[in-house]
Amino acid sequence: MTESSTTVVVDIRKLWTVFKNADGENIVHRDLDLHIERGEVLSLVGGSGTGKTVLLRQILGLEKPSKGIVEVLGRAPGELSAKGAANVGMLFQHGALFSAFSVLENIAFPLRELKLLPDELIRNAALVKLQMVGLQPRHANMSPADLSGGMIKRVALARALIMDPPLLLLDEPTAGLDPESADSFCDLLRGLHRELGLTVVMVTHDLDTLFDLSTRIAVLADHKVITSGSAREVITYPHPFIHEYFLGGRGQRALEALHDKPAKAPPPPVGAGH
Ligand SMILES: Nc1ncnc2c1ncn2[C@@H]1O[C@H](COP(=O)(O)OP(=O)(O)OP(=O)(O)O)[C@@H](O)[C@H]1O
Ligand SMILES: [Mg+2]
Repeated sequence: MTESSTTVVVDIRKLWTVFKNADGENIVHRDLDLHIERGEVLSLVGGSGTGKTVLLRQILGLEKPSKGIVEVLGRAPGELSAKGAANVGMLFQHGALFSAFSVLENIAFPLRELKLLPDELIRNAALVKLQMVGLQPRHANMSPADLSGGMIKRVALARALIMDPPLLLLDEPTAGLDPESADSFCDLLRGLHRELGLTVVMVTHDLDTLFDLSTRIAVLADHKVITSGSAREVITYPHPFIHEYFLGGRGQRALEALHDKPAKAPPPPVGAGH
């Protein structure tokens, strides 16, 4: 099967993750299965310590499972694609920009590390990504210290996209943003997902972001994905965690907002000039 005909982007089969600690073994994942198709925005929800971040790190290739299979587009995570590009981009929870680098240097960093392209091309590629995330050329030489929280997220997103990965991982993309910045970051993510044809795997505790962006929600409990589906499907699945998570006061409010909300107008075109 060629890369372009593959519809399963992430294939996780019978995954076990076991950490050894002072008390013996900490079994995080046990026989976990998860298949993610091209174009999905799959959100992972689960209690603290259920292994959501570890799962993202395994998809990115930063960690190896104890047992089982993780494949991204038919390859081991971390392997480069046939074209030599990374298959996966990740937006880390805290942005993690290099404070000594400018905005543009931060965005260009993964490409520079590859040492394959001349500086001028790398600079242009970074400028394209800068505008793709809604920033302007005048922001290119700014230092991360001079950026708002929402702008830092945008720069980190541009860096995650610099190699044009087909798969984007988001760890708490709107955590720490005020509601307005969170909304506008969700609009940006929705536009990029559509225009770039991305597949997205997201971890979020924010129910507005969850209901706003997900095409499917997967619930981690009892060491595996206990159910997945639309918001309405998942919240009716009988499990104590789901009951508490979605049907507590917080979940009720987010669900009501979901019912009340009119269908969203499409966001402005990505990378539109200012
Ligand atoms: N490198 C490691 N060595 C040992 N234990 C680890 C390691 N990484 C994670 N763990 C353990 O694995 C479990 C899952 O951690 P993980 O960070 O994936 O949880 P999470 O679902 O992301 O939680 P949260 O919602 O709080 O972010 C935790 O019990 C954690 O202590
Ligand atoms: Mg986590």
